Amino acid sequence: MNILVIGGGGREHAVIKALKKNGSVQKIWCLPGNGGIAADAECFPVKATDLDGIVSFAKEKRPDFAVVTPDDPLVLGCVDRLEEIGVPCFGPRANAAILEGSKIFSKDLMKKYGIPTAESRIFDDPASALSYLKETAYPVVVKADGLALGKGAIIVQNFEEAEKAVRDMMIDKVFGASGSRILIEEFLTGPEVSVLSFTDGKTVVPMVSSMDHKRAQDGDRGLNTGGMGTIAPNPYYTKEIADVCMEKIFLPTVEAMRKEGRPFRGCLYFGLMLTKAGPKVIEYNCRFGDPETQVVLPLLESDLLSIMQACRNGTLTKEMVKFSKGAACCVVLASEGYPLSYRTGFEISLPDTKEGEEIDIAGAKLSEGKLLTSGGRVLGAVARAADLPTAVKNAYALADRIFFQNAYRRSDIGARALAALKEE
Ligand code: AMP
Ligand code: GLY
Repeated sequence: MNILVIGGGGREHAVIKALKKNGSVQKIWCLPGNGGIAADAECFPVKATDLDGIVSFAKEKRPDFAVVTPDDPLVLGCVDRLEEIGVPCFGPRANAAILEGSKIFSKDLMKKYGIPTAESRIFDDPASALSYLKETAYPVVVKADGLALGKGAIIVQNFEEAEKAVRDMMIDKVFGASGSRILIEEFLTGPEVSVLSFTDGKTVVPMVSSMDHKRAQDGDRGLNTGGMGTIAPNPYYTKEIADVCMEKIFLPTVEAMRKEGRPFRGCLYFGLMLTKAGPKVIEYNCRFGDPETQVVLPLLESDLLSIMQACRNGTLTKEMVKFSKGAACCVVLASEGYPLSYRTGFEISLPDTKEGEEIDIAGAKLSEGKLLTSGGRVLGAVARAADLPTAVKNAYALADRIFFQNAYRRSDIGARALAALKEE
């Protein structure tokens, strides 16, 4: 089997390592990949959003299977284009990826099918949004309809902040066309849980739950980032809550998409908030999470490629997906200054890894045989262990053996989860 993977971050590195465990995999190409992924796959500088470039690459190399991982190519229809030329893919077609591509689409879907989510109002002009915001109680959440690099949701505490958010999105267009329409949403509280799931459009099989740490600084302070670290499993996500989510959220969502003529095949990511009134959907993503994947896939005992093929072929069963009872933690090492401005080009010194340790490279390039930093999030130090306290300790011990100038990390990844474990 020769496989094409689209994307180039830590998540793709984790996916590629998991795919390589299948003995029938001979070759993996990654577009564009990165300097670290190059150790595990052949990388070519074709951007993940360059669908024409991806299609011509696939026509030339004829991969047996493709895995499209990031949101933007999925929303743009990368899977549709590859399947048109006969390449079977893991990932939703554009008409299903809209579940992430338009928050208004997904909100309407949830309302129509009674799937629990935050109350919200939709606005397509700034004047009516602002007149609503003058009357409403705070805090509320202002969200851009379309993709916005994970920065399109702004929690505002008063009218002044709300006005700025509306102005940025609808008038100054900081997220481009993504902010032409916005949602103003009820502010929910409670622990957040990420649940990634495999689905073939009919059957949905949740993966082990996880917890992201989105803010840049310790104590969940500072700016929102793409994710500074993760742990799995999430201790707030009990068996009882999992059963409620399956019945009220996971199955109804997959069923709703099928009824709408948009069967979702691939990884469907449920971003949930466990409120006092029960679990509610904060967001859907049409893909694996980053850095959730880096802790979820090391705990997968079954063969990832077979599951992905079953999702594509409509033959997924619960029995195909087995996770270990252990735990995992990923500590992201970023360039100091991320998510604002930061310097790059520093050499990364990587240690040898032991059993249970992995380093997933996110933002690095190769230059004259050296691995240099090239992005905000540079890499994830991942440890898998029998329990969460050990996984967290080992992930930090691994992070301590990795060096580059201006490396920055949070020092409390997993702390809240460990506190929740103690409360049990
Ligand atoms: P999103 O872009 O929808 O993933 O939102 C990013 C983050 O904003 C989420 O992970 C939550 O922490 C927060 N958030 C989004 N929507 C809400 C909401 N309705 N209530 C409270 N927090 C929210
Ligand atoms: N870690 C959040 C996401 O992948 O959207």
